[in-house]
Amino acid sequence: MGASRGARLCLLLLLAGGPLWVLRCRLGRPTPTAPKSRTAPSLLRQEMLQLVPGGLSQDAGRHGLSRDSSMNRGKPLTYSGSREAKPTKDQPRLCSQSLTLKVKADPRFGQLFRFHIPVLMWGQHFTPETWDRLKERSAPYGWHGLPYTAIASTLHLLNNSVNSRLFDRAGFPEGCVRCAVVGNGGILNGSRQGKEIDAHDFVFRLNGAVIKDFEDDVGTKTSFYGFTVNTMKNSLIAYREYGFTQIPQSKDLRYILIPSDMRDYVMLKSAILGSSVQEGYDKGDEPRTYFGPEASARKFRLLHPDFIHYLTAQFLRSEIINTQYGYLYMPSTGALMLLTALHTCDQVSAYGFITDNYRKFSDHYYEREKKPLVFYANHDMLLEAKLWKSLHRAGIMKLYQR
Ligand SMILES: *[C@@H]1O[C@H](CO)[C@@H](O)[C@H](O)[C@H]1NC(C)=O
Ligand SMILES: *[C@@H]1O[C@H](CO)[C@@H](O)[C@H](O)[C@H]1NC(C)=O
Repeated sequence: MGASRGARLCLLLLLAGGPLWVLRCRLGRPTPTAPKSRTAPSLLRQEMLQLVPGGLSQDAGRHGLSRDSSMNRGKPLTYSGSREAKPTKDQPRLCSQSLTLKVKADPRFGQLFRFHIPVLMWGQHFTPETWDRLKERSAPYGWHGLPYTAIASTLHLLNNSVNSRLFDRAGFPEGCVRCAVVGNGGILNGSRQGKEIDAHDFVFRLNGAVIKDFEDDVGTKTSFYGFTVNTMKNSLIAYREYGFTQIPQSKDLRYILIPSDMRDYVMLKSAILGSSVQEGYDKGDEPRTYFGPEASARKFRLLHPDFIHYLTAQFLRSEIINTQYGYLYMPSTGALMLLTALHTCDQVSAYGFITDNYRKFSDHYYEREKKPLVFYANHDMLLEAKLWKSLHRAGIMKLYQR
Protein backbone atom coordinates (compact mmCIF):
# COMPACT_ATOMS: atom_id res chain seq x y z
CA MET A 1 0.00 0.00 0.00
CA GLY A 2 0.94 3.63 -0.45
CA ALA A 3 4.57 4.53 -0.34
CA SER A 4 7.08 1.84 -0.94
CA ARG A 5 9.92 0.91 1.34
CA GLY A 6 12.15 2.99 -0.91
CA ALA A 7 10.01 6.06 -0.44
CA ARG A 8 10.05 5.60 3.29
CA LEU A 9 13.79 5.29 3.49
CA CYS A 10 14.09 8.24 1.15
CA LEU A 11 12.10 10.25 3.60
CA LEU A 12 14.41 9.23 6.38
CA LEU A 13 17.38 10.37 4.38
CA LEU A 14 15.66 13.59 3.47
CA LEU A 15 15.00 14.27 7.09
CA ALA A 16 18.41 13.47 8.35
CA GLY A 17 20.27 14.82 5.38
CA GLY A 18 19.11 18.41 5.76
CA PRO A 19 21.27 21.25 7.00
CA LEU A 20 22.53 19.29 9.95
CA TRP A 21 19.30 19.41 11.80
CA VAL A 22 18.96 16.40 13.93
CA LEU A 23 15.63 15.04 14.93
CA ARG A 24 15.51 14.62 18.63
CA CYS A 25 12.23 13.31 19.74
CA ARG A 26 12.94 11.49 22.89
CA LEU A 27 16.51 12.17 23.74
CA GLY A 28 15.67 14.05 26.83
CA ARG A 29 18.56 16.41 27.40
CA PRO A 30 18.23 20.15 27.40
CA THR A 31 18.12 21.58 23.91
CA PRO A 32 20.84 24.15 23.59
CA THR A 33 18.88 26.41 21.27
CA ALA A 34 15.25 26.66 20.39
CA PRO A 35 14.40 25.64 16.86
CA LYS A 36 14.37 28.64 14.58
CA SER A 37 14.62 27.20 11.14
CA ARG A 38 11.64 27.36 8.79
CA THR A 39 11.51 23.59 8.99
CA ALA A 40 10.66 23.81 12.64
CA PRO A 41 6.95 24.72 12.43
CA SER A 42 6.15 21.87 10.08
CA LEU A 43 7.93 19.52 12.41
CA LEU A 44 6.25 20.93 15.45
CA ARG A 45 3.89 18.06 15.63
CA GLN A 46 2.55 15.90 18.33
CA GLU A 47 4.92 13.07 17.70
CA MET A 48 8.08 14.57 16.36
CA LEU A 49 9.06 17.80 17.72
CA GLN A 50 12.49 18.67 18.80
CA LEU A 51 15.06 19.86 16.37
CA VAL A 52 18.57 20.56 17.48
CA PRO A 53 21.53 21.58 15.44
CA GLY A 54 24.41 19.17 15.30
CA GLY A 55 25.39 15.87 13.83
CA LEU A 56 23.34 12.81 14.48
CA SER A 57 25.99 10.38 15.56
CA GLN A 58 27.86 13.02 17.46
CA ASP A 59 24.73 13.91 19.34
CA ALA A 60 23.85 10.33 20.05
CA GLY A 61 27.34 9.68 21.27
CA ARG A 62 27.53 12.71 23.51
CA HIS A 63 24.41 11.70 25.30
CA GLY A 64 25.28 8.03 25.39
CA LEU A 65 22.01 7.39 23.70
CA SER A 66 22.74 4.65 21.26
CA ARG A 67 19.84 2.27 21.34
CA ASP A 68 20.26 -1.19 22.67
CA SER A 69 21.55 -3.74 20.26
CA SER A 70 18.33 -5.69 20.15
CA MET A 71 16.56 -2.65 18.72
CA ASN A 72 19.06 -1.55 16.11
CA ARG A 73 22.54 -2.02 14.71
CA GLY A 74 21.24 -4.47 12.21
CA LYS A 75 20.62 -7.22 14.68
CA PRO A 76 17.10 -8.49 14.20
CA LEU A 77 14.79 -7.69 17.02
CA THR A 78 13.61 -10.99 18.32
CA TYR A 79 11.15 -11.72 20.98
CA SER A 80 11.92 -14.72 23.09
CA GLY A 81 9.61 -13.97 25.96
CA SER A 82 11.95 -15.68 28.34
CA ARG A 83 13.15 -12.49 29.96
CA GLU A 84 10.11 -10.48 30.77
CA ALA A 85 8.22 -9.24 33.76
CA LYS A 86 6.29 -11.69 35.85
CA PRO A 87 2.57 -11.28 35.36
CA THR A 88 0.62 -9.31 37.91
CA LYS A 89 -2.31 -11.36 39.09
CA ASP A 90 -4.93 -10.88 36.41
CA GLN A 91 -8.57 -10.17 36.90
CA PRO A 92 -10.57 -12.90 35.16
CA ARG A 93 -12.34 -11.99 31.94
CA LEU A 94 -15.93 -13.11 32.07
CA CYS A 95 -16.90 -11.71 28.70
CA SER A 96 -18.01 -14.43 26.30
CA GLN A 97 -17.26 -12.25 23.26
CA SER A 98 -13.86 -11.10 24.38
CA LEU A 99 -11.38 -10.30 21.66
CA THR A 100 -9.02 -12.75 23.36
CA LEU A 101 -11.11 -15.58 21.87
CA LYS A 102 -10.87 -14.09 18.40
CA VAL A 103 -7.13 -13.76 18.86
CA LYS A 104 -6.74 -17.38 19.97
CA ALA A 105 -8.70 -18.58 16.96
CA ASP A 106 -6.63 -16.55 14.51
CA PRO A 107 -3.61 -18.32 13.02
CA ARG A 108 -1.45 -15.20 12.77
CA PHE A 109 -2.52 -13.14 15.75
CA GLY A 110 -2.78 -16.16 17.98
CA GLN A 111 1.00 -16.42 17.64
CA LEU A 112 1.64 -12.71 18.26
CA PHE A 113 -0.46 -11.75 21.27
CA ARG A 114 0.84 -12.48 24.78
CA PHE A 115 -1.92 -11.48 27.14
CA HIS A 116 0.03 -12.42 30.25
CA ILE A 117 2.65 -9.69 29.80
CA PRO A 118 1.98 -6.86 32.26
CA VAL A 119 0.77 -3.75 30.46
CA LEU A 120 1.55 -1.37 33.31
CA MET A 121 4.53 -0.97 35.57
CA TRP A 122 3.94 -0.27 39.23
CA GLY A 123 5.93 -0.24 42.46
CA GLN A 124 5.91 -3.99 43.01
CA HIS A 125 7.57 -4.59 39.65
CA PHE A 126 10.63 -2.66 40.72
CA THR A 127 12.90 -5.48 41.86
CA PRO A 128 16.67 -5.95 41.47
CA GLU A 129 15.92 -8.49 38.75
CA THR A 130 13.81 -5.97 36.81
CA TRP A 131 16.46 -3.31 37.17
CA ASP A 132 19.15 -5.65 35.84
CA ARG A 133 17.04 -6.60 32.86
CA LEU A 134 15.75 -3.16 31.92
CA LYS A 135 19.03 -1.31 32.39
CA GLU A 136 20.26 -3.13 29.29
CA ARG A 137 17.66 -1.53 27.00
CA SER A 138 17.20 2.12 26.14
CA ALA A 139 13.93 3.94 26.73
CA PRO A 140 11.14 3.38 25.89
CA TYR A 141 12.07 -0.31 26.14
CA GLY A 142 14.07 -0.02 29.33
CA TRP A 143 16.23 2.18 31.49
CA HIS A 144 19.64 2.17 29.89
CA GLY A 145 21.61 5.18 31.08
CA LEU A 146 18.91 6.36 33.47
CA PRO A 147 19.86 6.84 37.12
CA TYR A 148 18.72 4.14 39.50
CA THR A 149 17.59 6.54 42.19
CA ALA A 150 15.39 8.51 39.81
CA ILE A 151 13.63 5.41 38.51
CA ALA A 152 13.33 3.93 41.99
CA SER A 153 11.92 7.08 43.57
CA THR A 154 9.30 7.44 40.85
CA LEU A 155 8.21 3.81 40.87
CA HIS A 156 7.97 3.69 44.65
CA LEU A 157 5.23 6.29 44.35
CA LEU A 158 3.17 3.96 42.14
CA ASN A 159 2.78 1.62 45.06
CA ASN A 160 -0.97 1.06 45.08
CA SER A 161 -2.55 -1.84 43.22
CA VAL A 162 -4.71 0.70 41.35
CA ASN A 163 -1.50 1.55 39.51
CA SER A 164 -1.25 -2.03 38.26
CA ARG A 165 -4.43 -1.96 36.16
CA LEU A 166 -6.40 0.43 34.04
CA PHE A 167 -9.78 -0.40 35.53
CA ASP A 168 -11.50 -2.73 37.90
CA ARG A 169 -13.43 -5.49 36.15
CA ALA A 170 -15.63 -5.87 39.21
CA GLY A 171 -17.63 -2.91 37.91
CA PHE A 172 -18.79 -4.85 34.82
CA PRO A 173 -21.43 -7.35 35.82
CA GLU A 174 -22.11 -8.50 32.26
CA GLY A 175 -18.39 -9.04 31.91
CA CYS A 176 -17.59 -7.25 28.67
CA VAL A 177 -15.53 -4.07 28.81
CA ARG A 178 -15.98 -1.99 25.65
CA CYS A 179 -13.33 0.56 24.74
CA ALA A 180 -13.04 3.24 22.09
CA VAL A 181 -9.61 4.55 21.20
CA VAL A 182 -9.73 7.91 19.48
CA GLY A 183 -6.77 8.95 17.36
CA ASN A 184 -6.62 12.43 15.92
CA GLY A 185 -6.79 11.58 12.22
CA GLY A 186 -8.57 13.76 9.66
CA ILE A 187 -10.99 10.94 8.87
CA LEU A 188 -12.99 12.05 11.92
CA ASN A 189 -13.81 15.48 10.50
CA GLY A 190 -17.52 15.34 9.72
CA SER A 191 -17.75 11.70 10.83
CA ARG A 192 -20.51 12.18 13.42
CA GLN A 193 -19.15 9.31 15.50
CA GLY A 194 -19.33 11.21 18.78
CA LYS A 195 -22.38 9.48 20.23
CA GLU A 196 -21.08 6.05 19.33
CA ILE A 197 -17.67 6.83 20.83
CA ASP A 198 -19.18 8.09 24.08
CA ALA A 199 -21.32 4.96 24.37
CA HIS A 200 -18.25 2.84 25.14
CA ASP A 201 -17.35 2.02 28.73
CA PHE A 202 -13.96 3.68 28.34
CA VAL A 203 -12.68 6.22 25.86
CA PHE A 204 -8.95 6.57 25.25
CA ARG A 205 -7.57 9.79 23.77
CA LEU A 206 -4.06 11.03 23.21
CA ASN A 207 -1.86 14.00 22.43
CA GLY A 208 -3.70 16.89 20.72
CA ALA A 209 -7.20 15.57 21.44
CA VAL A 210 -9.32 18.61 20.57
CA ILE A 211 -12.94 18.20 21.67
CA LYS A 212 -14.51 21.66 21.61
CA ASP A 213 -16.49 22.23 18.39
CA PHE A 214 -15.94 18.58 17.40
CA GLU A 215 -18.25 16.92 19.92
CA ASP A 216 -20.48 15.45 17.18
CA ASP A 217 -17.50 13.86 15.51
CA VAL A 218 -15.34 12.70 18.40
CA GLY A 219 -17.55 12.71 21.50
CA THR A 220 -16.77 14.26 24.84
CA LYS A 221 -15.94 11.39 27.18
CA THR A 222 -12.30 10.82 28.12
CA SER A 223 -11.41 7.98 30.47
CA PHE A 224 -7.72 7.73 29.61
CA TYR A 225 -5.35 10.24 28.12
CA GLY A 226 -2.10 8.83 26.74
CA PHE A 227 1.09 10.78 26.12
CA THR A 228 4.78 11.22 26.64
CA VAL A 229 5.87 14.48 28.24
CA ASN A 230 7.36 15.41 24.88
CA THR A 231 4.18 14.76 22.89
CA MET A 232 2.01 16.39 25.56
CA LYS A 233 3.97 19.62 25.69
CA ASN A 234 4.40 19.76 21.95
CA SER A 235 0.69 19.20 21.41
CA LEU A 236 0.00 22.20 23.63
CA ILE A 237 2.22 24.30 21.38
CA ALA A 238 1.34 22.90 17.97
CA TYR A 239 -2.44 22.57 18.40
CA ARG A 240 -3.09 25.60 20.56
CA GLU A 241 -4.43 27.40 17.52
CA TYR A 242 -7.04 24.65 17.16
CA GLY A 243 -8.17 25.02 20.73
CA PHE A 244 -5.94 22.46 22.43
CA THR A 245 -5.06 24.80 25.28
CA GLN A 246 -5.18 22.33 28.14
CA ILE A 247 -4.50 18.68 28.84
CA PRO A 248 -7.85 16.93 29.44
CA GLN A 249 -8.74 16.98 33.13
CA SER A 250 -11.62 15.51 35.09
CA LYS A 251 -12.20 13.62 38.27
CA ASP A 252 -12.49 10.22 36.64
CA LEU A 253 -9.83 10.66 34.01
CA ARG A 254 -6.62 8.64 34.27
CA TYR A 255 -3.33 9.51 32.63
CA ILE A 256 -1.33 6.85 30.79
CA LEU A 257 2.28 7.89 30.60
CA ILE A 258 4.59 6.35 28.01
CA PRO A 259 8.08 6.23 29.54
CA SER A 260 10.01 7.30 26.44
CA ASP A 261 12.63 9.30 28.25
CA MET A 262 13.98 10.36 31.63
CA ARG A 263 11.67 13.38 31.38
CA ASP A 264 8.67 11.13 31.79
CA TYR A 265 9.88 9.62 35.06
CA VAL A 266 10.87 13.03 36.42
CA MET A 267 7.54 14.63 35.49
CA LEU A 268 5.58 11.71 36.91
CA LYS A 269 7.31 11.96 40.25
CA SER A 270 6.70 15.70 40.54
CA ALA A 271 3.09 15.30 39.46
CA ILE A 272 2.41 12.74 42.16
CA LEU A 273 4.23 14.73 44.83
CA GLY A 274 2.55 17.96 43.74
CA SER A 275 5.86 19.76 43.44
CA SER A 276 7.47 21.64 40.61
CA VAL A 277 9.88 19.69 38.42
CA GLN A 278 13.23 19.76 40.16
CA GLU A 279 15.63 18.76 37.43
CA GLY A 280 16.20 18.09 33.78
CA TYR A 281 14.58 19.32 30.63
CA ASP A 282 11.31 20.38 32.24
CA LYS A 283 12.84 21.96 35.33
CA GLY A 284 10.51 24.52 36.86
CA ASP A 285 7.33 23.14 35.25
CA GLU A 286 4.31 22.93 37.52
CA PRO A 287 2.65 19.57 36.81
CA ARG A 288 -0.66 20.86 38.16
CA THR A 289 -0.90 23.16 35.17
CA TYR A 290 -1.13 19.99 33.05
CA PHE A 291 -2.92 17.52 35.29
CA GLY A 292 -4.96 19.74 37.59
CA PRO A 293 -4.69 20.43 41.29
CA GLU A 294 -5.78 16.97 42.38
CA ALA A 295 -3.21 14.91 40.57
CA SER A 296 -2.15 12.06 42.82
CA ALA A 297 -0.64 8.63 42.33
CA ARG A 298 -4.11 7.18 41.76
CA LYS A 299 -4.53 9.19 38.58
CA PHE A 300 -1.43 7.88 36.82
CA ARG A 301 -0.57 4.69 34.98
CA LEU A 302 2.82 3.95 33.49
CA LEU A 303 3.23 1.67 30.48
CA HIS A 304 5.67 -1.13 31.27
CA PRO A 305 8.90 -0.90 29.24
CA ASP A 306 8.67 -4.66 28.71
CA PHE A 307 5.20 -4.18 27.25
CA ILE A 308 6.44 -1.52 24.81
CA HIS A 309 9.32 -3.81 23.86
CA TYR A 310 6.96 -6.71 23.28
CA LEU A 311 4.55 -4.59 21.21
CA THR A 312 7.35 -3.29 19.04
CA ALA A 313 8.92 -6.70 18.54
CA GLN A 314 5.69 -8.55 17.83
CA PHE A 315 3.48 -6.03 16.07
CA LEU A 316 5.47 -3.03 14.86
CA ARG A 317 8.95 -4.19 14.02
CA SER A 318 9.67 -1.57 11.41
CA GLU A 319 12.47 -1.67 8.85
CA ILE A 320 13.46 1.71 10.24
CA ILE A 321 14.94 -0.15 13.21
CA ASN A 322 17.63 -1.55 10.97
CA THR A 323 18.70 1.82 9.60
CA GLN A 324 21.08 4.20 11.27
CA TYR A 325 18.03 6.12 12.47
CA GLY A 326 16.74 3.09 14.28
CA TYR A 327 17.25 4.75 17.63
CA LEU A 328 14.64 7.37 16.72
CA TYR A 329 11.98 4.80 16.05
CA MET A 330 9.17 3.76 18.33
CA PRO A 331 5.47 3.02 17.81
CA SER A 332 3.33 6.16 17.74
CA THR A 333 1.41 7.30 20.82
CA GLY A 334 -1.80 6.28 19.07
CA ALA A 335 -0.45 2.81 18.31
CA LEU A 336 0.63 2.32 21.91
CA MET A 337 -2.80 3.39 23.19
CA LEU A 338 -4.67 1.17 20.75
CA LEU A 339 -2.49 -1.84 21.56
CA THR A 340 -2.90 -1.09 25.26
CA ALA A 341 -6.68 -1.20 24.81
CA LEU A 342 -6.39 -4.43 22.82
CA HIS A 343 -4.52 -5.99 25.75
CA THR A 344 -6.91 -4.81 28.45
CA CYS A 345 -10.44 -4.36 27.07
CA ASP A 346 -12.77 -7.07 25.73
CA GLN A 347 -14.01 -5.12 22.73
CA VAL A 348 -12.11 -2.35 21.01
CA SER A 349 -13.11 0.19 18.38
CA ALA A 350 -10.52 2.48 16.84
CA TYR A 351 -11.51 5.90 15.51
CA GLY A 352 -9.28 8.44 13.81
CA PHE A 353 -6.52 5.91 13.04
CA ILE A 354 -4.74 5.72 9.72
CA THR A 355 -6.57 3.86 6.95
CA ASP A 356 -5.69 2.88 3.39
CA ASN A 357 -7.31 6.01 2.02
CA TYR A 358 -5.57 8.41 4.38
CA ARG A 359 -4.71 10.70 1.47
CA LYS A 360 -8.35 11.70 1.25
CA PHE A 361 -8.20 13.24 4.68
CA SER A 362 -6.33 15.95 6.49
CA ASP A 363 -3.59 15.13 8.99
CA HIS A 364 -5.90 15.92 11.95
CA TYR A 365 -9.66 16.30 12.19
CA TYR A 366 -9.43 19.83 13.51
CA GLU A 367 -7.41 21.46 10.77
CA ARG A 368 -9.37 24.07 8.87
CA GLU A 369 -7.58 23.50 5.63
CA LYS A 370 -6.48 20.12 4.42
CA LYS A 371 -2.94 19.31 5.43
CA PRO A 372 -1.38 16.12 4.14
CA LEU A 373 -0.18 13.51 6.59
CA VAL A 374 3.62 13.63 6.58
CA PHE A 375 5.73 10.66 7.61
CA TYR A 376 8.70 11.10 9.92
CA ALA A 377 11.53 8.80 10.80
CA ASN A 378 10.40 8.15 14.35
CA HIS A 379 7.25 6.22 13.43
CA ASP A 380 6.17 3.85 10.69
CA MET A 381 2.61 4.92 9.99
CA LEU A 382 2.22 2.64 6.96
CA LEU A 383 3.18 -0.38 9.01
CA GLU A 384 0.68 0.75 11.64
CA ALA A 385 -1.99 1.16 8.94
CA LYS A 386 -1.37 -2.41 7.82
CA LEU A 387 -1.68 -3.69 11.37
CA TRP A 388 -4.99 -1.91 12.02
CA LYS A 389 -6.38 -3.20 8.76
CA SER A 390 -5.49 -6.79 9.50
CA LEU A 391 -6.77 -6.62 13.09
CA HIS A 392 -10.04 -5.29 11.69
CA ARG A 393 -10.21 -8.01 9.05
CA ALA A 394 -9.53 -10.67 11.65
CA GLY A 395 -12.50 -9.35 13.65
CA ILE A 396 -10.27 -8.57 16.64
CA MET A 397 -11.15 -4.88 16.64
CA LYS A 398 -13.31 -2.49 14.69
CA LEU A 399 -11.49 0.15 12.67
CA TYR A 400 -13.55 3.16 11.70
CA GLN A 401 -13.19 3.66 7.94
CA ARG A 402 -15.06 5.61 5.33
C1 LIG B 1 3.36 4.66 48.97
O1 LIG B 1 3.80 5.94 48.56
C2 LIG B 1 3.36 7.00 49.38
C3 LIG B 1 3.83 8.27 48.75
O2 LIG B 1 2.99 8.57 47.69
C4 LIG B 1 3.93 6.80 50.78
O3 LIG B 1 3.49 7.84 51.62
C5 LIG B 1 3.47 5.47 51.32
O4 LIG B 1 4.07 5.21 52.56
C6 LIG B 1 3.85 4.34 50.36
N1 LIG B 1 3.28 3.11 50.81
C7 LIG B 1 3.94 1.97 50.78
C8 LIG B 1 3.19 0.79 51.25
O5 LIG B 1 5.09 1.88 50.39
C1 LIG C 1 -13.74 19.62 7.96
O1 LIG C 1 -15.11 19.62 7.67
C2 LIG C 1 -15.66 20.90 7.50
C3 LIG C 1 -17.16 20.77 7.38
O2 LIG C 1 -17.50 19.68 6.56
C4 LIG C 1 -15.02 21.57 6.30
O3 LIG C 1 -15.53 22.89 6.13
C5 LIG C 1 -13.53 21.62 6.54
O4 LIG C 1 -12.88 22.15 5.41
C6 LIG C 1 -12.98 20.27 6.83
N1 LIG C 1 -11.58 20.39 7.18
C7 LIG C 1 -10.63 19.80 6.48
C8 LIG C 1 -9.25 20.04 6.94
O5 LIG C 1 -10.85 19.11 5.51
